[in-house]
Amino acid sequence: MSGSVGNSTQSLHADDVLNVVSDVAPPMHLSTTFRYSKDPAALVPFADLSDTQIDPNTHVYSRVSAPNQTRFETILSSLLKGSALSYSSGLSSLHAALTLLNPRRISVGEGYHGCHGVIALFTRLTGLKKLPLECEANDLEAGDVILLETPVNPQGTAFDIASFAEKAHSRGAYLIVDSTFAPPGLQDPFLWGADIVMHSGTKYFGGHSDALCGVLATRNKEWYSQLFEDRIFLGSLMGNMESWLCVRSLRTLEVRIQRQSENATRIVKWLHSALNKRNLQSGSESNSASEEAVIQAAVADVYHASVQVTEGDWLSKQMPNGFGPVFSISMKNEEFAKALPSKLHFFQHATSLGGVETLIEWRTMSDPSVDRKLLRISVGLENWEDLKGDLLGAFRQFAGV
Ligand SMILES: Cc1ncc(COP(=O)(O)O)c(C=O)c1O
Repeated sequence: MSGSVGNSTQSLHADDVLNVVSDVAPPMHLSTTFRYSKDPAALVPFADLSDTQIDPNTHVYSRVSAPNQTRFETILSSLLKGSALSYSSGLSSLHAALTLLNPRRISVGEGYHGCHGVIALFTRLTGLKKLPLECEANDLEAGDVILLETPVNPQGTAFDIASFAEKAHSRGAYLIVDSTFAPPGLQDPFLWGADIVMHSGTKYFGGHSDALCGVLATRNKEWYSQLFEDRIFLGSLMGNMESWLCVRSLRTLEVRIQRQSENATRIVKWLHSALNKRNLQSGSESNSASEEAVIQAAVADVYHASVQVTEGDWLSKQMPNGFGPVFSISMKNEEFAKALPSKLHFFQHATSLGGVETLIEWRTMSDPSVDRKLLRISVGLENWEDLKGDLLGAFRQFAGV
């Protein structure tokens, strides 16, 4: 589909070419195997087919391809502006990317702890060496990888993709961008030099906390073919049901992301300006009940790309339409952080992110590497002022007002 068509149109029509039945809502195909043609003349063994002869409406076995998954990938390729493949989870997509590139070194920041688990598997199997994200360019060699998660989990702050692409490419290394926190519409990592774009589609592509999914996209045709072939043997395809759910979710991706991003940015702005308000005489009767005093008594800091201080204008260029819908807060002490989720009504205390419902997580519950005062918030589609009121009510309980 032409790149000049808007994201929401692509979400609804990029898969029109795959419509072989008259159903407006795509049918769900659960079959794992597909009948060959009854016409002997039409039988072409897989090994004799060239890439260009592979018909996206013809399937053999669902570990290779299946209708709902092909439909999902067709829409994603259009949205991500690169050939996309889907996987059974975000981590299996990272596993596939590292299997493809088999680097000797990987430069990586803290980010999502599970990605470090995948890297540890490769270290065990291949001796892969982990370098810090801020390593010198000279520490990298041809074929090595920089894995850049941006915006980063759990804070929601961003990195300059172009500078990491330049660093990788200056050494013949490759840049993988994990763009889970900023789906299409918010960030296009290819525009800034990414070689592979990765997503945990479990988050915004699924969007309803009911499907595990991983995605890789690349503009390198040979890599795409190798990834496709590798996946047959890794066996890490998405299930048919999950693919169907994710197609359904992509239809509303743009409006969900716009609203969730706006909601998050409004709440962050509210917290940030309260935290930065000076001359509150704590203890004085009038101020102790003010919103700002209540927030300052409970919260130490707020982290998000919208309040990030950067050098230069790369952030507004790379995220021109708004920032990710996830942010973090650091509470005044660990007890406050542990107790906050149970004082809220519209924030469900659970891990993960990207769904239509707002989630909060005392992050140490699932990630041992983060500070115990930190809470991660994935903002959903609720009315933002209801979320704000809910937070304020809980903060007031800490302040005893
Ligand atoms: C930034 C990031 N990358 C990758 C993953 C892994 O994705 P999945 O849970 O779908 O395997 C996550 C999961 O939270 C994530 O936040």
